[in-house]
Amino acid sequence: MQHFLDIHTTDPAALRAMIDSARAMKDARGGRPRGATDDEQPLAGRMVALIFEKPSTRTRVSFDVGVRQMGGQTMVLSGREMQLGHGETIADTARVLSRYVDLIMIRTYEEATLQEMAEHATVPVINGLTNRTHPCQIMADVMTYEEHRGPIRGRKVVWSGDGNNVCASFLHAAGQFGFDFTFTGPEPLDPERGWLEFARAQGVDARIERDPFKAVAGADLVVTDTWVSMHDPESAKERRHNQLRGYQVNAALMAGANPDALFMHCLPAHREDEVTSAVMDGPASVVFEEAENRLHAQKAIMRWCLGV
Ligand code: CP
Repeated sequence: MQHFLDIHTTDPAALRAMIDSARAMKDARGGRPRGATDDEQPLAGRMVALIFEKPSTRTRVSFDVGVRQMGGQTMVLSGREMQLGHGETIADTARVLSRYVDLIMIRTYEEATLQEMAEHATVPVINGLTNRTHPCQIMADVMTYEEHRGPIRGRKVVWSGDGNNVCASFLHAAGQFGFDFTFTGPEPLDPERGWLEFARAQGVDARIERDPFKAVAGADLVVTDTWVSMHDPESAKERRHNQLRGYQVNAALMAGANPDALFMHCLPAHREDEVTSAVMDGPASVVFEEAENRLHAQKAIMRWCLGV
């Protein structure tokens, strides 16, 4: 049994094997309808709990479809409808769910909730996003980059905007997959220093550059995300927009990157805020491929967790 809690805590060889497995499963499906099952049914007879304490479109649907394609069954649980955090401890919830299901995916607020669930569950636990990290998204993003441009090792990735949970998992991936990473954004929204140090310790160039135009020079991939995350207070919106306006990914910024640079956004996007429609819908954008690859990458993650 193996949990998938974060990219920096997962063996790099295992991460690489998951990307390869995801691509193989995607190829094996060919163009068959989404509702059609795979030839292999590694999750036959397995039940997967999908717990959401925060809203979701991509994570919810891609996990649900992925389990079904592999022959398993799902139950989607909203945090509000459970006893989670309403008297019953996370540890007891983990012990109880482990008697009913074979795998737990949880999207939650605090990283401590995820860790406690993993500590006490006797089935694998997958991190479907916390306030601090979003590893499933970045597995899909690495897969997407490599589908379009080949190995990501040695490439330069630039993150423009808020150094949030998605940015954190990109920094973890920089270290584990061996690509350089530049963060450009205002100082109050820097990613955690420890994440930069983690990437540097793996031998990659991880840095901060305040000037977005200097940052994108030589970039192979430009990435951004919403300026106000789900766990940020609504009152932060105006301040965030003022801080981040200069870091919008637009045609002028993309023109400073390498000519074949790709653009990614984990979605949902706020068009004309962190990214313009010209970039979102332009030739460099692979945002909908990223969304599709959530499905394939997470199927590989679930198989790895269950050893099937
Ligand atoms: N990118 C992502 O995790 O999307 P959802 O919040 O819709 O799941």
